[in-house]
Amino acid sequence: MCRWTIIVLCFAHIVGQDILDFDDACHKSSAIECSASWLQRRAHRVQENSPAHAHELAMEEHSKTVSAAHASEEMSVKSMTVANSSTSFCDTHTGGPTRCVSGECMCQPGYCSDDDGRCHKKLPDVFADIVPINDEKKEFPPRQANLQTAVCLSGGGTRAMVAALGALRGLEYLDLLGRTDLLVSVSGGTWTSGPFMFSHMSKGHLLGSPTRPSELSLEELTTRPGLIGDGATHDIYHLLKTAFLNNDDPHSIWVNAFNEILLKPIGLGNMSKYMAPDDSTVQRIIRKNPHLQREDFIVPPSDRPRAFVMLGVLLAPLGHESDDDTVVSLQMSPDFSGSPFYPGREGQLQFDEEGEHWLASSDIPALKLVVGGGMVETFAFGSDTPFSDQSGGHGVRMPSPSEPLSLAKAVGVSSAAFSAYTSQAMDKLGGQRMQALIPVATLWPITSKKFPGPKAAAKFKIGDGGHMDNSGLMPALQRKVPRIVMFLNTDVKIGMKSDFCAYTPVGAGELGSAAAWYFLDKFGLGAHVDGSFLMHNQVFRFKDLQPILCDLQTHRRAGRPAVSLRELEVLKNSWWGIEGGWKVKLLVYHLDKSKVFESQLPADTQKEIAAGKEGMFANFPQFTMVRQNPRSLISYTSAQVNLLSSLVEYGVRQHAGYFREVLAGIPRNLWEPQPSAGFEALHPREAAQGDSEELADILHSR
Ligand SMILES: *[C@@H]1O[C@H](CO)[C@@H](O)[C@H](O)[C@H]1NC(C)=O
Ligand SMILES: *[C@@H]1O[C@H](CO)[C@@H](O)[C@H](O)[C@H]1NC(C)=O
Repeated sequence: MCRWTIIVLCFAHIVGQDILDFDDACHKSSAIECSASWLQRRAHRVQENSPAHAHELAMEEHSKTVSAAHASEEMSVKSMTVANSSTSFCDTHTGGPTRCVSGECMCQPGYCSDDDGRCHKKLPDVFADIVPINDEKKEFPPRQANLQTAVCLSGGGTRAMVAALGALRGLEYLDLLGRTDLLVSVSGGTWTSGPFMFSHMSKGHLLGSPTRPSELSLEELTTRPGLIGDGATHDIYHLLKTAFLNNDDPHSIWVNAFNEILLKPIGLGNMSKYMAPDDSTVQRIIRKNPHLQREDFIVPPSDRPRAFVMLGVLLAPLGHESDDDTVVSLQMSPDFSGSPFYPGREGQLQFDEEGEHWLASSDIPALKLVVGGGMVETFAFGSDTPFSDQSGGHGVRMPSPSEPLSLAKAVGVSSAAFSAYTSQAMDKLGGQRMQALIPVATLWPITSKKFPGPKAAAKFKIGDGGHMDNSGLMPALQRKVPRIVMFLNTDVKIGMKSDFCAYTPVGAGELGSAAAWYFLDKFGLGAHVDGSFLMHNQVFRFKDLQPILCDLQTHRRAGRPAVSLRELEVLKNSWWGIEGGWKVKLLVYHLDKSKVFESQLPADTQKEIAAGKEGMFANFPQFTMVRQNPRSLISYTSAQVNLLSSLVEYGVRQHAGYFREVLAGIPRNLWEPQPSAGFEALHPREAAQGDSEELADILHSR
């Protein structure tokens, strides 16, 4: 019987033929690649079936991740036939030039299929740098090393996107973005950070102008937000639906939809372009890879944070289950991408085969894999195993990835959270097909003395970083950043029932629902949360949690935006490769209601908020990720975008002292003689401007 390495070959045998003509010269391990094309066939087949049947299947397969193997089992029973004449179907379905031969889609000469079952142009091998980051050599690549400050933008769908917009606007207003070395974002946070990092348009254009609450009348609020915020007013529902009905390639549907609404409008929607950190790097890459050109790359403007991490996850290799012990972070950056350190027990991950029933065979061994160990230059990410120097080196030769890790793909992957809300919302269109949308990437580990090479590449299901760390804190701690700001743009309200400032300790049960769950997991409460993989995220002592919740509660009670600034000892966490025994200055912003903010709003806006569910701002500020507005899946109105982003911007500016202490390293008492004194009394803009001038003086005199 089959063993894992040849499972897919066996299936190919069972199924008879595959949908694509595999060209061996194209790819070293094409056997594994076929699995993804089965996904496509299944997707197509399900659509041919009645909606009721699709729904049944959806219910039956209420699992988090796609089962390629399972799919192929079904295919062996009932195979899809393509009408002989429908080459155009093949073209849209395989994302590249194809021809239809005897009812099968074949790649045209010069093209070959890859991990996603689509036809890609054959490209020359590439020469790229590999950086080991593991027990033997712990250093991150230069741009991601020696970072002093970090800002982390949490996930949380459109709410997190819009709140992140307000956060960046506030920080920019205080001139603190230029003092941020590392920006980490997850999911919805990446919908804002991705465009912000790479667009060369003015920051004002992108983020919108600074606001003050007293000016946010309904008339003002209904004007169009800045360019990035405008993206939040466009819905993806119709794009997804059209794509489904057109039979578009399922792997691209999600990424394409976000590309369409978020990136294309600001000129970043070309998915043939690679990411790179700056022009001199592009020149170096081109020198070593003459088939690439300057136009093939996008780079961030020079005034953006030096390091940028879009957080995704590796769920499991195709055909295998993901669980708490297999999910691993995938860190996508303009310079290097991959998975640092060797996560897992003793640095290895154990993957069980997916589903108990498929093949009903015990012959398929659980898979034990070494994953991670470092990063590869982003333009080469997704390649097959390098020909040499898998343990790291400069200009290492490897097969070209079949398509770039484009900004759109990174943004889409970082937010590919179908498992939870989207598949539910998409049930009408055949929720089960959402499973087939999970992106796939080729990954190989960086080898070392402990895990010597060569080690083969595998196809991983990849997805939303929020499954594992929805805060973005962990990549910052991995890089030992000593001063960190976290924006928790959550819909969880700060617990107000118990008094966290009382001397008596409050139990884990109550603390465990008192703030964003992806903050509490950092204190060892990760096991309390179902449906996510947070078990391995403890980095702080449990006893350090209550004082922070006390801070948040105190501000919340006083009607102020809730923040807490504390110095915490970092605990060792070997799963993430985090060295313990050092201290981090951590500023937490926790999204919640602010009475002070609301009291400054013009009367008509206040009235609208007071109208609750009946008004324009139902749930404010905890807007829902899905169906905040009855006629859309994820979009908000301009007024909602403007109000929520202004709340967060206000929070940053009102707590300017805290933010400056952390990001500019300037002791707080320079800015706030009495903590929070006069907070309510000061006119926001005057206060902030006064501070800015004072700050400029201080900085210049240093
Ligand atoms: C497609 O064409 C081949 C011959 O080229 C023929 O044998 C086959 O029956 C045709 N299939 C369909 C579905 O028309
Ligand atoms: C996208 O970028 C590629 C690579 O630079 C270029 O060849 C192509 O023309 C661009 N496509 C569009 C639509 O601009």
